[in-house]
Amino acid sequence: MSSPFTRLSRSALAGCCAIATASAGLLMAVPATAATAAAAPASARPGAAAATAQYPNLAPTPPMGWNDWSYYQCGETEQNVLANAKALVTSGLAAKGYNTVTIDDCWMAPNRDANGNLVANPTTFPDGMAYVGKQLHAMGLKFGIYEDAGTSTCGGYPGSMGHWTEDADLFASWGVDYVKLDGCNVPDYPGENDEQSYYTAYSAMSSALLKSGRPMVFSISAPAYFQGTSDWDTVIKWSAQLGNLWREGADTALGQESGAAKWDAITYNYGYNVGLADLQSPGRWNDPDFLLAGDSGLTQDEIQSQVALWSMMAAPLISSTDLTKLSAGALAALGNQAVIAVDQDPLGLQGRLVQQGTGYNVLSKPLTGGDRAVALFNSSDSAQTVTTSAATAGFGSGSSFLLKNLETGAVTQTTGTISVDVPPHGTAIFRVSPGGKPATTRKVQPSTAITWQNVSTATMQNTYLVSLTDLGSARVTDAKLSVSAPAGWKVSPVTTRLHQVNPGASASATYRITGPEAVPGTTTTPITATATYRAGAAGPGSVSGQETITSVVPYPTLAGAFNNVGITAESTPAPGNFDGDGDSYSADALATAGVTPGSTVSANGATFTWPDVAAGTADNVAAAGEAITLSGKGSSLAFLGSETGAVSGTVTVTYTDGTTSTGSLGFPNWCCTPPTAYGAQVAITTDHRDTPSGPANFGISYQVFTNTVPLTAGKTVASVTLPDQAAIHIFGLSVEP
Ligand code: GLA
Repeated sequence: MSSPFTRLSRSALAGCCAIATASAGLLMAVPATAATAAAAPASARPGAAAATAQYPNLAPTPPMGWNDWSYYQCGETEQNVLANAKALVTSGLAAKGYNTVTIDDCWMAPNRDANGNLVANPTTFPDGMAYVGKQLHAMGLKFGIYEDAGTSTCGGYPGSMGHWTEDADLFASWGVDYVKLDGCNVPDYPGENDEQSYYTAYSAMSSALLKSGRPMVFSISAPAYFQGTSDWDTVIKWSAQLGNLWREGADTALGQESGAAKWDAITYNYGYNVGLADLQSPGRWNDPDFLLAGDSGLTQDEIQSQVALWSMMAAPLISSTDLTKLSAGALAALGNQAVIAVDQDPLGLQGRLVQQGTGYNVLSKPLTGGDRAVALFNSSDSAQTVTTSAATAGFGSGSSFLLKNLETGAVTQTTGTISVDVPPHGTAIFRVSPGGKPATTRKVQPSTAITWQNVSTATMQNTYLVSLTDLGSARVTDAKLSVSAPAGWKVSPVTTRLHQVNPGASASATYRITGPEAVPGTTTTPITATATYRAGAAGPGSVSGQETITSVVPYPTLAGAFNNVGITAESTPAPGNFDGDGDSYSADALATAGVTPGSTVSANGATFTWPDVAAGTADNVAAAGEAITLSGKGSSLAFLGSETGAVSGTVTVTYTDGTTSTGSLGFPNWCCTPPTAYGAQVAITTDHRDTPSGPANFGISYQVFTNTVPLTAGKTVASVTLPDQAAIHIFGLSVEP
């Protein structure tokens, strides 16, 4: 079985194209054949996981460390691995627990030696793996290595199948402390189905590692190959018998992908992992893949969110970036000891989702000693105040709690409500302790929260009500509220006196906030309100909260909104990035199909102008809610486009009279799904595409499609808002009679 290993939202392809660089294994997957299956060791499936000895608990807390894959893929070398190991030590991260350095796929020579042993690639690891292990150990680090349970690794190097004992013993002789066993190219054993064959393979390695006599943490990838199937839970359950942690789903994004793709991957992996708390137990860890802190494209809030959410889920904390260039912000997020302590809490339990609402989740994780970690995750694109309670977080009773903000270290007291304004994609994380009676908390600040509400009306636009709420037992006095906005914005008034706010009460003020003249496109601006006050014996205190003001101004033309290079010349394919992996349509193949810059494309009853721009420059809109000015009257709005996912989204048409209509728009995947998905029709067929290293043909064609949404009869179109689905790409737009 080979793994698609890509997020379904990015691509629902199971054996082609868009993910070539994301998972080399896809292209090199060896299908199960009678020959490979026959070569596999005969092994009867014990019938129940319990029949194989439980693997020892070698990871009492979630493993931490670094892995080269997401950043380097097959480009890792002795030099860059050791440089990252050194950075782990010098940055102080190793001392905080990030102590295992794992060398992922592609470290091997293409063939085993005459004795059947694996050999390090002589060019990239000239001193051999035992040497690397020695260097890591000398730095006080642990040595992790990658192999695969199949006939070959995802990258096409020799797999462990049929070599369980040699490989386990070899790893032990090299001083390996941690083995990640991937699951590409696992053929079915005779008489066994996929799930049984994976069990057989992984239990063989589990036993071989045990028999080697060296304690090696065992990371199992089998469940990731069953995500989305009815066997998923079963495979996770036996993985918990056979090893210490398991990858149960899609790979996270690679270092070279866009910030948006990385955030997409973080939320996708969070989304599948957060529901698996029942399958986790102390010392047996769900692994939603690497931490991307330090990679390009992510905001500080996104970096911090991933570390906080992974810690709430008691996930392994495995960085996969270039640690030699770690920014101060990434280092702070990875190295936040209060958050790491949540992950590593000796109780060893995965946090659970206790509340969810529009664009937010609340998680609660029991900690030793009766405390709980509570995280409020704002997954939306705008700041919002998220409110929960100690009771919802799992505290049965109690009327006073201490909240320690694990990002700022500030401690406040609440009578039960936990409320905080969280920036877009941010996570507020607290350690909540029951108790905190008034006598002992006199000097502790009451917990307070800022809440924003847009109260604009047709006659009073850009008007916001900002409230300060006192959630603690002590009254706040001398309260002042100030609103600050970036240069060019006007706030009126800037500061308001709120005087006192009693426990449980709120005080508010109204602000008019206007921005500079907006430019075409979607602009988001964070505006911050800060309240300062005094709280009796606790002295001066303050709280801040953000509002995100979003303005959408239509682009004058579709071309004005072009934000993606979807077509490249075969001679210079590098700028192409239609699928997020650097692939694009080929201008040469399009020309063969009769399509050149500025040419007319007439297909399926609609007529468009093909983007009149040179190959290698932005020529399509990867839709993200852009609005585009358009005029005309007709029966339908036609689109020329395609996609790299399998999604549809809503198009909103605004008419000159101010009314709107909506329609659903989707296209088939550019290569790999039925060409009529979402009611689309094929407009252009090319026989290959460009990859970053040149044209490539996987025996399939790459197409562009037409699709339509209806228009309201008799009305004149003023503008069109594209779906908020970046997988949908638009090359042309026209009003059809
Ligand atoms: C799979 C794994 C990744 C990485 C690659 C190596 O995709 O999930 O983490 O190990 O294989 O080829």
